[in-house]
Amino acid sequence: MTTPQHPEDFLRFMRMRSAREDGIFWVDDQRLGVFEPEAARRVSATNWQRFVMHDRLVDMMLRRHSPEMRWSRIRSAWMTQMHALATPEHHGALADRMERIMDARVGEDVDLTMLMQDVTLRSLLPVALTGLTSAEAELVRRDLEMKLLRLVSPDPGSTWHHLKFISVQMRSGLVVRRVLRQRADGRRRREADLADPFVDLLPELGMDRALDVVTAVLTAIGGPPGTAAASLLYEFVRNPDWQRRLTDELREVDPVAFRTSPTTAAPATHRFVKEVLRMWSPPLLLVRRSKFGFDLGSTRLDPGQWYLLSPHLIHRDERVWKQPDVFDPDRFLPGAPHGPKDRTCYVPFGWAPKKCIGANLGTFQLMALCHLLCTRYRLSVEHTDRITMALRFAPVPENFRGRLTLR
Ligand code: HEM
Repeated sequence: MTTPQHPEDFLRFMRMRSAREDGIFWVDDQRLGVFEPEAARRVSATNWQRFVMHDRLVDMMLRRHSPEMRWSRIRSAWMTQMHALATPEHHGALADRMERIMDARVGEDVDLTMLMQDVTLRSLLPVALTGLTSAEAELVRRDLEMKLLRLVSPDPGSTWHHLKFISVQMRSGLVVRRVLRQRADGRRRREADLADPFVDLLPELGMDRALDVVTAVLTAIGGPPGTAAASLLYEFVRNPDWQRRLTDELREVDPVAFRTSPTTAAPATHRFVKEVLRMWSPPLLLVRRSKFGFDLGSTRLDPGQWYLLSPHLIHRDERVWKQPDVFDPDRFLPGAPHGPKDRTCYVPFGWAPKKCIGANLGTFQLMALCHLLCTRYRLSVEHTDRITMALRFAPVPENFRGRLTLR
């Protein structure tokens, strides 16, 4: 059987085969699909053990060996900073930035998917890298926007467009390098963002690896949060009963409690967000290279071979979820009969030890979006029957136009 090329057909084909072949099968002669929850957990846990960041290109050019930098050190620097940013004040500042960006578009007829991308990216940028001039911020934002458009657009674009993309990417990289260098030599203020810990690590890490680390965060905030927010809006529009339930909860919620511990203060909203992330997990596929050999029952994965992981396919697997295609946030109520079979079946933020470092912040951002939709704006959407969910690098609502007005 030939593998379909179109992303949507490819996903449908993999879902069908995954159901037939217990979640582990060769997608083609290059890549093994590891869509069985426990196998995906086990392969991820082993594969990234002692993962080291090398400085290969520079080492090769300068004929030297840079000091090794374990990925676990990078992650622990991120996690420490994430912890410092998980305060009611920082949460409040993020929600305020979202509100300002949405306020500026009130009354306009907009593509809601693109609006959500703009709101999430611009409000998260200061978490990743702050203290930029407006020209610097604009360049970094354009770079991320162009990367995203290449992922969501079915059209590959012209050569000119490709050259433009490379030029913006290089100039954005120069901004990051300049910021890190100037923070290190005291010409710029140190900031509470996810780039700052790497200023202290620069002597060991070197500028190229530091740029890669900062770029990893920038790329991470430029993709999944925006498509998740657009999917949230999509389910919000399609589920008026849940609009009412969320409004009842969020109208009454104490703002300080919401910013301190959102999942406790607004449990129904949390369930709604969890269900959106189950149904429409971005990204749809993670492509990985195996460093170890794995015995996976009917087949083997050898060192150097490629494999695919997919939260989406696990979340839609009928072996571990009842009625996986039905949107029902109450499946996350404790003891619900249609809830997750076990913890390995719900993985919207991926797998340890490479699991998303922004899971809590991303969840808060989506809950803050619900809060804004239920208390500040009215959302009107034209032709709800024409909205479709396209499966590209992530699920992306299409033909999704509408207007925000103030309540
Ligand atoms: C709803 C929003 C988000 C979703 C659905 C999401 C999802 C994911 C997923 C699936 C991965 C891959 C994990 C793996 O390879 O197993 C990932 C990685 C990552 N995410 Fe997120 N993410 C979100 C928000 C964020 C935010 C807000 C940040 C930072 C402020 C962030 C930073 C990262 C980073 C740095 C990685 C790479 C981790 C590593 O390579 O060790 N993400 N995310």
